[in-house]
Amino acid sequence: MSGDVIIAGRGLCRYYQRGSETVRALDGVDIDIRAGESVCVVGPSGSGKTTLINLLSALDAPTAGTLVIDGRRVDGLPEHELVNIRRGTLGYVFQKFHLIPTLTVAENVAMPLLFLGKKTDPAGLAHVLAAVGLADRASHLPKELSGGQMQRVSIGRALITNPRVLIADEPTGNLDRQTGETIFDLFLQAVREKGVALVLTTHNLALAARCDRMVTLEDGRIKRGS
Ligand SMILES: Nc1ncnc2c1ncn2[C@@H]1O[C@H](COP(=O)(O)OP(=O)(O)OP(=O)(O)O)[C@@H](O)[C@H]1O
Ligand SMILES: [Mg+2]
Repeated sequence: MSGDVIIAGRGLCRYYQRGSETVRALDGVDIDIRAGESVCVVGPSGSGKTTLINLLSALDAPTAGTLVIDGRRVDGLPEHELVNIRRGTLGYVFQKFHLIPTLTVAENVAMPLLFLGKKTDPAGLAHVLAAVGLADRASHLPKELSGGQMQRVSIGRALITNPRVLIADEPTGNLDRQTGETIFDLFLQAVREKGVALVLTTHNLALAARCDRMVTLEDGRIKRGS
């Protein structure tokens, strides 16, 4: 069952200027993301998926439209305030993992707590490492891991702050098919067990179909779903 609306976007637009041409990467998108639901954004290459994900995760600001995250109007907020919203409410998983090579698995997972000025609770850290299947890899370095394990670390790193929303742009894009399926299951498990909302993108429609909802973009607009 899904609950309160955590992210609400209305009339979201993101235009890029390329010389004299205006690229309408996103052109009037309405979207609600509710607690405990999984939403997959799909669509052809260039349809605006990354652009939308970057707006919903407050990594980028809309050219027009309104965006409310966790009850706060965020369009038009300065960067230093967006940083706090990202750190407090959102857990972001990158396609290319972005792990710190000199830190262990456990240290990478705990890293966001440092930014929040919070102490690492060893039991909480152990719980997250177990949840992402890395309990026996805690003291390994990233270079000692497979691609799937690296993505597990970045999911653990996103979960450690207990975010309300987990956001990921093509999180299985760098993984082989089977590993990608396992990682996708891990995301859905986080939705079930932690009640977080999940917004992600993929080019794999079979994976997308496992989510509660699919939103299809075409030329920066929603074709199906909302
Ligand atoms: N920084 C930018 N400057 C100019 N145009 C951009 C920029 N970023 C994206 N675009 C354009 O915006 C449109 C949407 O791009 P976006 O990256 O959101 O697509 P996508 O659906 O994520 O594609 P893919 O499936 O290939 O990842 C494309 O036409 C792209 O060329
Ligand atoms: Mg993209």
